[in-house]
Amino acid sequence: MQTKYLITDPRTPNPDMLAEGGSILRRGGLVAFPTETVYGLGANALDGDAVAGIFAAKGRPGDNPLIVHVADKRTVKELAKDVPEQAITLMNAFWPGPLTIILPVGGKVPGQVTAGLETLALRMPNHPVALGLIKAAGVPVAAPSANTSGRPSPTTAEHVWFDLAGRIDLILDAGPAGFGLESTVLDLTVPTPQILRPGGITPEKLREVLGSVSVAFSEADMANTTTPPRSPGMKYTHYAPNAPLYLIEGEEQEVTAKIKDLALFYRGQGQRVGILTYSGGTDFTSFGEVLKAGHRDQPETIANALYAVLRRFDQLGVDVILAEGIEDRGIGLAVMNRLRKASAKIR
Ligand code: TXA
Ligand code: MG
Repeated sequence: MQTKYLITDPRTPNPDMLAEGGSILRRGGLVAFPTETVYGLGANALDGDAVAGIFAAKGRPGDNPLIVHVADKRTVKELAKDVPEQAITLMNAFWPGPLTIILPVGGKVPGQVTAGLETLALRMPNHPVALGLIKAAGVPVAAPSANTSGRPSPTTAEHVWFDLAGRIDLILDAGPAGFGLESTVLDLTVPTPQILRPGGITPEKLREVLGSVSVAFSEADMANTTTPPRSPGMKYTHYAPNAPLYLIEGEEQEVTAKIKDLALFYRGQGQRVGILTYSGGTDFTSFGEVLKAGHRDQPETIANALYAVLRRFDQLGVDVILAEGIEDRGIGLAVMNRLRKASAKIR
């Protein structure tokens, strides 16, 4: 398959390009597009065969359901069986934006989208290209992140090209995505709303609106349990670069010492060592290939840079990556969630 690549302005998207993307989606094709989180790979959510194409292009396990993207809040009523008051409150507070809500699924949505579950993930993205594309398509758009399954999510159209060229119909390039990590996934089908995946909308912000919100136990724990995960995506290795990634967490001095120790150890074995750290921290230059993902005092800059840095380590061809942990509060919770999932200990 030939993949077409179109470049548009992020704020005032080219209407002809949106129309072209929309018509590809309507006739069952696959279109990659930017959102305010990461790039997504879209298909017509009402067309089961088109949705199956997403799984084939990404090599995604068939039991991992997709998020349906809408361009207005009203569409939610057509797709969900039931829209509780809490959902409306959340949509008013955070949509368009990086919050995905899980509701009971209605009859219109094909089983390929939900992987056969009784529930449906929904989100209204806050990006003019995403919204314009969904409107142009005239149908809701099922879209996972536009990466090969298991790889770090794409934050630029070049990342999408690298993973999926030849496998999809169109890439709409409107520059870097926004936040840099995927949306917060919140399950509203349980008595106390539960965060299944942390993201740009923090637990703190959700609690301001909802009162009590629980956070699903960490994926690091999940690896050692036999309980079926509530969010099927939680059980798979994710976001992982090619080289094994070791995440070092703890007090700063101990972390610094440990990274230096391990770097010397691996180098002694003839391995090329990558070190993932942050501006404003320790200088590890003489210990390996150092890449800095944002500034340690601004977790949002880390979220923004993380996936590109993980992909950069692949290009450098390092044999092992030593990554410095950050405090898992606020945006740091989403960053650490992704680093834990990418890390070798849970493979
Ligand atoms: O920011 C984002 O959410 C991006 C952009 C493109 O919108 N999309 C994204 O999709 O990250 P994906 O497929 O990479 O991640 C969707 C996550 C998976 O962990 C999946 O298991 C979970 O949402 N999910 C989807 N439907 C679900 C459901 N019905 N119940 C529980 N979890 C669900
Ligand atoms: Mg993904």
